[in-house]
Amino acid sequence: MLYPRIKLSEDIYWIGTNDRRTSLFENYWPLPNGVAYNSYLVLDEKVTLLDTVSMGTMDSYLEKLKEILNGRKIDYLVINHMEPDHSGAVKAIVNEYPEVKIIGNTKTFPMLEGFYGIHDNLIPVEDGSTLTTGRHTFQFFLTPMVHWPETMVTWDETDKILFSADAFGSFGTLDGGIFDDETNLEFYQEELRRYYSNIVGKYGLQVQKALDKVQGLDIKMIASTHGPIWRSNIPMILDLYRKWSSYQTEEGVVIVFGSMYGNTEKMAETIARAIAEEGIRNIRIFDVSKTHSSYIINDIWKYRGVILGSSAYNGGIFTPMRDLILELEHIMPKNHYLAIFGSMSWGGGGVRTLQKFAENIKWELVAEPIEVKHGPRPADIEKLMELGKAMARRLKADRTH
Ligand code: FEO
Repeated sequence: MLYPRIKLSEDIYWIGTNDRRTSLFENYWPLPNGVAYNSYLVLDEKVTLLDTVSMGTMDSYLEKLKEILNGRKIDYLVINHMEPDHSGAVKAIVNEYPEVKIIGNTKTFPMLEGFYGIHDNLIPVEDGSTLTTGRHTFQFFLTPMVHWPETMVTWDETDKILFSADAFGSFGTLDGGIFDDETNLEFYQEELRRYYSNIVGKYGLQVQKALDKVQGLDIKMIASTHGPIWRSNIPMILDLYRKWSSYQTEEGVVIVFGSMYGNTEKMAETIARAIAEEGIRNIRIFDVSKTHSSYIINDIWKYRGVILGSSAYNGGIFTPMRDLILELEHIMPKNHYLAIFGSMSWGGGGVRTLQKFAENIKWELVAEPIEVKHGPRPADIEKLMELGKAMARRLKADRTH
C-alpha cells in the first residue's frame, strides 16, 4: 500500500492531491501555501468518482485511484465543475475506463467536448435528479456561477455529505490533516476568504441562491474541491459564506497607494494616522506595486472602508493601480465607503481615473477627492487628515454601541 486510506465514511475515500509547485492559481492568483484538488471515490455496488484533479498532479492521482480501486472499474464519473483544476484528469480517466458514464448537466457537456473532445457515455441530470449506486443515493443540485455556469453540487442522501465543488473551498494544501478538525484552522482563515473573494466573490447572488438550495439538508459533512473537508465546523463555514456572499464587512480601512517617488505614499501615511487618532484600529496600508491584488481584495472583503491613492502616469493612472481598479470593477464588491486621493506633476490623470472608478463601483464617497501637485504641503496635510477623519467618522456612525 503506497497511499494511506482516508475515508469520509465506510465506502467513500478522499483521493485528492496537493499542489505545491504551481505558483499562480488560474495563472494569476499567488499560491504561497499551495492548493489542494479534492476528488472522492465511492466504492459502492457501482463505483462513482466525484470530480478529478489538475493535470499537473495527475500521475500520483491515478496511482492512488488504481490502488484503492484494486482492480475494480469506475462506473460513474460525476463532474460537478468543469474548470481544469478539477477536470484535468477526466481525459485520462476516460482513456483508462472507456465505459465510464459521465454525469453532468446540459452546460457541462459542451465544455467536456470543447476542452477534451469527449462526447460519449453522457448522462445528463437536472436540478434535483437522483442516482442510486447501491447503498448510496445521490441527488444533484445545479448551482450555476458558483463558480462557472455548469457548476453543480452532489448530495449524498445516504451519508449526508455535500460534495460542494468550489464552494466552501480554500487555498492552501492539506498538510496531513484532511478534515477541518485535523488541522489548525487558523492556517486556513485568510486563505478561505482569499479564495472566496478572488475566485467566487463576483457571484455573491448566485452563492446565496446555492445556500438557499442546500439550506434544508441535514448536512453532516461538506466536501469541497479545495481545502479541508468540513465536519466539525459546518455552521461556521456556512455562516462565513452567508456573510461573504452578502458583502457583510467589519469596521476597518484598507488604504492602497500607487506611488513612484513617495509623495502619494506620504499622503497615505497621513490619512492612516488621522484614522487611527479617531479610534479605528483595523487599518491596513498596501503598496499596490508590491502587494498582489489578491491580498488587497481579500482585505477589502473584510473591511468596509477603502481609500485609494494614485500618482498620475503618462496622463492617466499609475499602471499597477489601474490593474487593481479594473479587478475591483470586475468583481464588484459591495457595501464599502470610499475616499480617493493622489498626486500629479503636471496634467494629472490618477485622481481623475479614480473618480471614474468611484462612479462605476458606486461605493459611498465619504470625502471630496484630494489631488496635490508634486508633493503635499502643510495645507494639504490638513486636508488629508480631514479626509481620514471623515472616513473614521463614517465608520463609527455604523457602530451599534
Ligand atoms: Fe476550483 Fe472553479 O475551479
